[in-house]
Amino acid sequence: MTGVAEGTPAGLSGLVTGKSVIVCCGSGGTGKTTISAAIGLASATQGLKACVVTIDPARRLADALGLDNLGNTPRRITGAWAGELSAVMLDAKGTFDDLVVRYSQSREQADRILQNRLYRNLTSALSGTQEYMAMEKLYELHSEGGFDLVVVDTPPTRHALDFVDAPRRLYSFLENRVFRLVLAPTRAYLKAVTFAANALLRTISRVAGSEIVEDAIAFFRAFEGMEAGFRERARRVEDLLANPGTAFVLVVAPREDSIDEARFFTRRLAEGSIPVSALVVNRLLPNFGTDLPTGDVPSAAQPPAGTPDLAPPDPLAYEELRSNLEEFLVVARTEEQYVAELAGEVAPAPVVRVPFLKDDVHDIEGLQVVARHLLRGN
Ligand SMILES: Nc1ncnc2c1ncn2[C@@H]1O[C@H](COP(=O)(O)OP(=O)(O)OP(=O)(O)O)[C@@H](O)[C@H]1O
Ligand SMILES: [Mg+2]
Repeated sequence: MTGVAEGTPAGLSGLVTGKSVIVCCGSGGTGKTTISAAIGLASATQGLKACVVTIDPARRLADALGLDNLGNTPRRITGAWAGELSAVMLDAKGTFDDLVVRYSQSREQADRILQNRLYRNLTSALSGTQEYMAMEKLYELHSEGGFDLVVVDTPPTRHALDFVDAPRRLYSFLENRVFRLVLAPTRAYLKAVTFAANALLRTISRVAGSEIVEDAIAFFRAFEGMEAGFRERARRVEDLLANPGTAFVLVVAPREDSIDEARFFTRRLAEGSIPVSALVVNRLLPNFGTDLPTGDVPSAAQPPAGTPDLAPPDPLAYEELRSNLEEFLVVARTEEQYVAELAGEVAPAPVVRVPFLKDDVHDIEGLQVVARHLLRGN
């Protein structure tokens, strides 16, 4: 029993046709980028108009997806599939710039923000910005892109749910109280607080340098009037993540550390009332069967029937292969145990297995192999 509910279709075919957003998450290096690209391809194969938002794909995969020139808008990938496949490589800074332009009240206000030094460092300095911009891009493509399905890859995060929490954290930064008090000390009773805030700023200036504080004040001043638009947008992004049309696909490696993180991740999602819609176990050992060959080592004097021209088997080499296989079977059993444990936690979500392929997945052919495993289930 793997925890798959009765009647749940094997593979991801149901998910791919029934959802409009798929978020691929999981810990670092488990295959999120690969699996999200393969889900996009699987959807196109099924006749959907799909778009994949990838984050920092390996160079060769980016080339295969036609993303060689950095672009923050979807590129259509040509191929012989029933639907359409587009891909976009997330440019967090470009996405943030677009948001600023969208919500500023004038071009001058947008320029003041875009040229501000603090703002220019914000995407790299402020943790969670990349996570939020991935979600923002997802929202934009979902609401304005005309796609049936948008699949989004997520950045490797230290804390599994950074990208779900990111909208709120970013906006609470933008609404920073200290700066608000310094900028708008309009009422008399705020004077005392303002005095305290100014004292704090003087301390920060001494430690971090007055330029930084000036940049920050200029930044928050330039931002005046835009908070409402930003807050509303963040709320809509959060709503989209909680929408039943959004599926979270958890990608794991069949290793203890990855399974532990996935378990933590699943619980955190559950706390936010977000169920895991499918579990993809990536890079499983291929299925070698379950039993070791029994019987005698074929003897040198008696080659197996029908193979008179083959060199006689070497009993030592045979023993070595046999013990190799034995080790593989032990590892495969351990992997299956991990999978079964996690499957129980995400039940009734389907569990989809993708084997460890011979080569890295770096082109459309490789993605097609993964896509077949995802759709078929096994
Ligand atoms: N089933 C597989 N068989 C063989 N190689 C694979 C498989 N899945 C992924 N890979 C390879 O493993 C590497 C890591 O995969 P990928 O970049 O998709 O992981 P990731 O989770 O996105 O990593 P990161 O957290 O760093 O973004 C890539 O080189 C990819 O081609
Ligand atoms: Mg990745």
